[in-house]
Amino acid sequence: MSADDVMDAIAKQEWLEAAGDKIQPAIINTFKAGGEAGQKIKNFLHGTWLGHPLHPIITDVPVGSWTAAFVLDAMELAGNKKYKAGADAAIAIGLFGAAGAAVSGMTDWSGTTKKKRAIGLMHGLLNISATAIYATSYYLRKKEGSRTTAIGLAMVGYGITSASAYLGGHLVYAEQVGVDHTAISVEYPKEFVAVLPEAELTENSMKRGQAGEISVLLAKKNGEIFALANTCSHLGGPLCDGDLLDDCSVRCPWHHSVFSLKDGSVIDGPATEPQPKFETRINNGQIEVRLIKNDKQ
Ligand code: FES
Repeated sequence: MSADDVMDAIAKQEWLEAAGDKIQPAIINTFKAGGEAGQKIKNFLHGTWLGHPLHPIITDVPVGSWTAAFVLDAMELAGNKKYKAGADAAIAIGLFGAAGAAVSGMTDWSGTTKKKRAIGLMHGLLNISATAIYATSYYLRKKEGSRTTAIGLAMVGYGITSASAYLGGHLVYAEQVGVDHTAISVEYPKEFVAVLPEAELTENSMKRGQAGEISVLLAKKNGEIFALANTCSHLGGPLCDGDLLDDCSVRCPWHHSVFSLKDGSVIDGPATEPQPKFETRINNGQIEVRLIKNDKQ
């Protein structure tokens, strides 16, 4: 059975879909119930403020700490008792990190669908299991006569953590969760290129234009024409099918990230990366765009 077969099998699990149907709205509604503060916390956990997802940074703490604990435990089993305290401390640090990774991970997961959601939920369940096992291991380490059992449990936990980390990697590298969907191999236009007849873009409306292989969102607000990459940086949603908001921003139709039309910056997550922004001009009745110099070139 190949790794892809395993991922497909996970995606087909009906119980994961049923659980996702219950858990996902609960997370979304919890943030909504918090009003503006809830939205700020949600954006913080996504990493919108960082311009990068927060979750993969935090996951380094439990994975790194528990890897250290695995090595130190192995040395203890080999007869080097002086590594006991180090192993216990590494497990405790990993438990703190796992709590942060769980909260940020659940927040990111709340914006996923279908196969990504099923694999993400399995990833989360494995992490919860591993964390519970490590917590038990930590407790037993403090009890007289349970050291070998505690170490054995930690090693089981490490196996589960490794399997879960593999699923996390698959979500990023194969399913492109947390990847900037505007960072593509095709070049954004550096010279002005016509994308739409000016007459087709009316006040307070949005249209999709095409600059070679690049889909461009065009919006007209207060007589001014704005242009961003149409493909949402979060998971590739079509911004032109979203909502044009009064504060000169656009809301993605898929997971409701909001981007400023003025500079492409993220106003609201789950997106963490800004949208490439184009300069616009009218030439011979055509709207023309070119990329404003930025790191997408
Ligand atoms: S694709 Fe998820 S917010 Fe746009």
